[in-house]
Amino acid sequence: MCGIVGAIAARPVAGILLEGLRRLEYRGYDSAGMAVLDQGTINRLRRIGKVQALADACEQQPLPGGLGIAHTRWATHGKPSEQNAHPHMSGEGLAVVHNGIIENFEPLKQELQQQGYVFTSETDTEVVAHLLDRELQGGFDLRAALRNTLARLAGAFALGVIHVDQPHQLLTARKGSPLVIGVGIGENFIASDQLALLPVTDRFMYLEDGDIALLEADHIQVWDAQGQVAERAVTTFERSQGSAEKGEFRHFMLKEIYEQPRVMQAVLEGRIASGHLLEQAFGAAAGAVFDQVKQVQIVACGTSFHAGMVAKYWIEEWVGIPCMVEVASEFRYRPVVLPRDTLLLTLSQSGETADTLAALRAVQDRVLATLAICNVPGSSLVRESDLSLMTNAGPEIGVASTKAFTSQLVALMLTTIALGRRHGLSGERETELVAALEQLPGLLQQLLALDGPIEEMSAHFAEKHHALFLGRNVLYPVAMEGALKLKEISYIHAEAYPAGELKHGPLALVDKEMPVIAVAPRNGMLDKLKANLQEVRARGGELFVFAGCDQSIQAQEGVHVIHLPALPAVLDPIAFTLPLQLLSYHVAVLKGTDVDQPRNLAKSVTVE
Ligand code: AGP
Repeated sequence: MCGIVGAIAARPVAGILLEGLRRLEYRGYDSAGMAVLDQGTINRLRRIGKVQALADACEQQPLPGGLGIAHTRWATHGKPSEQNAHPHMSGEGLAVVHNGIIENFEPLKQELQQQGYVFTSETDTEVVAHLLDRELQGGFDLRAALRNTLARLAGAFALGVIHVDQPHQLLTARKGSPLVIGVGIGENFIASDQLALLPVTDRFMYLEDGDIALLEADHIQVWDAQGQVAERAVTTFERSQGSAEKGEFRHFMLKEIYEQPRVMQAVLEGRIASGHLLEQAFGAAAGAVFDQVKQVQIVACGTSFHAGMVAKYWIEEWVGIPCMVEVASEFRYRPVVLPRDTLLLTLSQSGETADTLAALRAVQDRVLATLAICNVPGSSLVRESDLSLMTNAGPEIGVASTKAFTSQLVALMLTTIALGRRHGLSGERETELVAALEQLPGLLQQLLALDGPIEEMSAHFAEKHHALFLGRNVLYPVAMEGALKLKEISYIHAEAYPAGELKHGPLALVDKEMPVIAVAPRNGMLDKLKANLQEVRARGGELFVFAGCDQSIQAQEGVHVIHLPALPAVLDPIAFTLPLQLLSYHVAVLKGTDVDQPRNLAKSVTVE
């Protein structure tokens, strides 16, 4: 994903911009560029490939000056090339960097071409540069030009703008894509992620959607979407928030569970706007691929496999095409039959899991296209796949995957919507799904309030050696993930079953020593699940039920119930996961195991 850095200072800014770009490398990119204003001239350098190539070019051709913008580009419109790299200019006087997608760039481009503007790139961004220039030619100042330009743009974006006639000002705006202002002393900055600016400041101002900000070296002015002057609080970054530190948390796993509301925001940012999905977030070639796909094959391991299992329910229900899911270690070693028009979807937190990579390599020449959903941008899986979607969860240190799983589910829901749109999913349904996704950050925040009751519940498991997880339908894979979490970190033997399978065997295991954890579905399956739960109670099994707020399951002797807050049913797999993560965490703490580094396990399984 693209990254933006900008600076206005009394000292040269090229070094600050380069360091900022290096710190944004984790987002993934294919080219980098920078424009710095010096004595009435904008000097621009762009290079394909790594930030280091841009740094080398800067050595050869230094860019002096105290006002500049820089960018790492992840191609969406037009191939990775120097011409398509940012910053983009209109004439010699105006430079723009952009993160996000301008959905209506084609009609805007035609309009501008008819008025004589010549385009030198294939990007959507160049439209912004020329629109700004047209407004300036019409007599507007840079801020008014930016406001008028924003009014013409559909999609999600963050922008940085400089102009030779305003050598002491850096303009910025955001709608749907991340952008933060770094507040310095006698100098100010912008970036896609505060991590880019930590060498120069620890004070940040977060812009709201639709905001425009004008930065001078010693002053920042913000206007809201209605054009009114707006106050945005400045907050100080606590170094303990750094992702490689636990901060106030006892374990990384707990920290990562608590990060999930923010992670939900990060995975959605730049992917949805005005109630619909931005398909270009999957890369320029995605639309054509999604059109032709006739079935999906998902391949993954462990937790990522469980995310794939959830997606199977979504894809078959909402897209109406077949979806197969298989663990990579099996898939890679058998003669699989894959119709040519298959989309191979690999899922991996690390992007380096040996079995998943081997599965990709084994069949990539036999399918229509490959799509990786991954948390590590430069990983092998991403590099070797045709399309990719980053989960943006940030580094996950705890071996037991938590935020990586829920962010995969969101990425998979976005993928399902993208596929569905090409296969008959109605606009209303898309709007409904996107509206539900938008509730996720707040919803997960509410779910964290269940931590206390779940910690109390965990005491029932401390002395147990086995546990059974039950789920139905789309919550069956969630039950599987719950069982995996419990066994990984507490070493309690746990298995998950589709609840309907209970009487086909596992019921024989149920007695008072076998706690049964059920995630209760909110579709027509609830009554069936209740019957299964009766079967457990009748054998003296103790039940722990996670239920929706409106479900008529009451606590009674031997039946413990935790109700989740009200939420759209489509979010159930994401929402029901969080309490199960907390349950395993607290059980593991009670048992005194090494929560973050459980015995015998590794974070990234790069060998067979
Ligand atoms: C999950 O808690 C485990 N750490 C493990 O199952 C993991 O999901 C699996 O090894 C796959 O890893 P990946 O997502 O990095 O490919």
